[in-house]
Amino acid sequence: HSHIPVIAIDGPTASGKGTVAQKVAQHLGFHYLDSGALYRLTALSALRRNTPLDDEHAVAKVAEHLHCHFSGAHIFLANEDVTDAIRAEEVGNTASKIAAIPTVRQALYGLQLGFRQAPGLVADGRDMGTVIFPHAVLKVFLTASVEARAQRRYKQLIDKGFSANMQDLSKDLTERDARDTNRSSAPLKAAEGAFLLETSEMTADQAVEQVLHWYAAAKLV
Ligand code: CDP
Ligand code: CDP
Repeated sequence: HSHIPVIAIDGPTASGKGTVAQKVAQHLGFHYLDSGALYRLTALSALRRNTPLDDEHAVAKVAEHLHCHFSGAHIFLANEDVTDAIRAEEVGNTASKIAAIPTVRQALYGLQLGFRQAPGLVADGRDMGTVIFPHAVLKVFLTASVEARAQRRYKQLIDKGFSANMQDLSKDLTERDARDTNRSSAPLKAAEGAFLLETSEMTADQAVEQVLHWYAAAKLV
């Protein structure tokens, strides 16, 4: 698999990773990995089973036995379409808590490597460039201000029919960033050699264009 190119896109909550990664994948005809969805699926599954979230062993078991599949833009847990259900803020917050458990991360490791298939992969998350695909041909670290990100997440939630308020969202976002950045296992940080892309004043399409430009240049090296 080592010859199959990977583009790793990492960054904090609502920085636009998913949107940008999917568009880049579409443009290049590459596969796409939404690694955050795996943590969200584990969280949803644990919440539904009433797994005690402080029981690391029990949560890791949920991750090990995660029965999920991806079909186009749809995500299934067992045979249920949970594409929208995993986007709830409660699920995101729980995902960020259980993502700090090293055995949960280990359980999801192999699953993520399996997405690396010809002709290439665009993967987004927190540790794509640092831990999962350290040899990615291109690593990008996307950022945007807390205000811009809260605004983006607000609009997404309202569009999906969830209720949301900006104050709670900004608070959640800041807490999640802190948890993801300060954990000892695969903390959120820019990988060595990553290109930084500050998108507060950019449209998603402008960010996509920049990533494609960097990829074209990286291929020539
Ligand atoms: O995956 P991540 O949580 O980083 O973000 P996302 O789910 O892709 O959500 C980002 C939202 O902001 C989407 O609704 C995008 O259309 C919008 N957006 C963006 O992604 N990038 C910009 N530069 C501006 C807006
Ligand atoms: O959409 P948003 O950026 O808020 O979150 P996500 O990418 O769906 O990920 C949800 C949570 O999973 C994050 O807050 C991280 O704690 C965790 N995660 C992780 O630890 N490592 C990854 N590669 C992806 C997500």
